[in-house]
Amino acid sequence: MKFITNTLLLCLLSSPIVALRSPALPELDHHKAQNIISTPASLASSSSSTGQEPSTADLVHLHKSLVEIPSITGAEANATAFLVDYLRGRGFTVETQYAAPGRDNLWAYVGKTRQTRVLVTSHIDTVPPYWPYERKSKDGTLLSEDAPLSSSDTIWGRGTVDAKGSVASIILAVEQLLHSDTIGEGDVAILVDVGEEKGGEGIRAANNLGLSWESVIFGEPTQLKLGRGHKGGLGFNVTAHGKAGHSGYPELGENAISQLVRGLNALLAVDLPGSEEFGNTTLNIGLITGGVAANVIPETAFATVHVRVAGGTPAGIEKQIREALLAVEPSLTFDFPYGIGPVSLDYDVDGFDTIVLNYGTDIPGLKGDHKKYLYGPGDFLVTHSDHEHLRVDDLEEAVEGYKKLITHALEKKD
Ligand SMILES: *[C@@H]1O[C@H](CO)[C@@H](O)[C@H](O)[C@H]1NC(C)=O
Ligand SMILES: *[C@@H]1O[C@H](CO)[C@@H](O)[C@H](O)[C@H]1NC(C)=O
Ligand SMILES: *[C@@H]1O[C@H](CO)[C@@H](O)[C@H](O)[C@H]1NC(C)=O
Repeated sequence: MKFITNTLLLCLLSSPIVALRSPALPELDHHKAQNIISTPASLASSSSSTGQEPSTADLVHLHKSLVEIPSITGAEANATAFLVDYLRGRGFTVETQYAAPGRDNLWAYVGKTRQTRVLVTSHIDTVPPYWPYERKSKDGTLLSEDAPLSSSDTIWGRGTVDAKGSVASIILAVEQLLHSDTIGEGDVAILVDVGEEKGGEGIRAANNLGLSWESVIFGEPTQLKLGRGHKGGLGFNVTAHGKAGHSGYPELGENAISQLVRGLNALLAVDLPGSEEFGNTTLNIGLITGGVAANVIPETAFATVHVRVAGGTPAGIEKQIREALLAVEPSLTFDFPYGIGPVSLDYDVDGFDTIVLNYGTDIPGLKGDHKKYLYGPGDFLVTHSDHEHLRVDDLEEAVEGYKKLITHALEKKD
């Protein structure tokens, strides 16, 4: 474990929340339209030395700051550094934890109590490529920075949904609960990790924190529904080994691409087990390489496949796949680097619609005997696309959702 601690700042503060507001979005025009967001007068006029409760404008501003900093997997450092400063400025104790060279997880809590009952976590990395931040009105008009903010505005850009929408609303939820004294030291910690989209270094490192929690709330886009579970994943590579030669004399060589194609064709016909709760197990042949030129018999060919596991076991599915391919091409070789079965989640909280997701998360990567909740703003169907976006009121509702989940998790004492 390599930690940089900053508990000193906390000792200087009487309250977990500092009287700091992020440079707010432009002054909001309360008279323009009904859905214009206004800051409640009581808060706007608050002179409390403990600071003001963060508002929707703060939420949108934090989300914007996060989206404007590119943080494609492997290059998360600037976004993490921004969040370290932001959370310290808000009075949290913030530690960074080495995950990979130049890449740290961020872990924040209140006061000196590292061991909390609840952990709320999401990831800062995004898939490539970077798409810049844009705010648009309901009718799609691009809005200037100083245009009034409305709940029906949409926010576009890489990571707006996956998962900076979750990160921003998690932070606002925790800040608001602290502000209202609903939670205090020892209740909740925030983990923002790296490498969720690819590699998983962040969540593997988090296992070295040496902590355990009663409940962990994972922030990923769920359309504001509570996840009942998500499919597992099985990744493998298959390689065909041929013998090179002049294509005019095919009998002198062995065509690796032909072998691979026959094998993959057999793969497409394999009936993999699904389940009622998780649906069908599906597979994606995602990459094929092989050969050197049209007039050369290819010596090798290679494919990478990802299976979304909805039933059975990873070992059982691996066996089915090997048998089906080897039956048509006995010389194929395999590399199965990982396999995870379907992941069941906790959803014992009233007031949420529930959903089963087809995507993978950090959830199976975090070891421990904790309750697992999965929730977040935004539509997973637009993630990883060039039209990734969500509505401002999705973010607002997510803050309420996370507050509900956190207070629920703290109510229960098993
Ligand atoms: C961080 O920001 C600096 C300054 O904008 C930039 O030069 C650098 O490439 C960024 N680092 C990463 C890892 O993206
Ligand atoms: C095999 O596939 C996995 C993903 O399924 C990938 O991470 C790994 O790098 C691949 N191995 C090779 C040798 O390409
Ligand atoms: C599962 O596969 C069957 C057969 O291909 C199909 O009819 C069904 O719609 C699929 N179910 C889901 C949930 O996609």
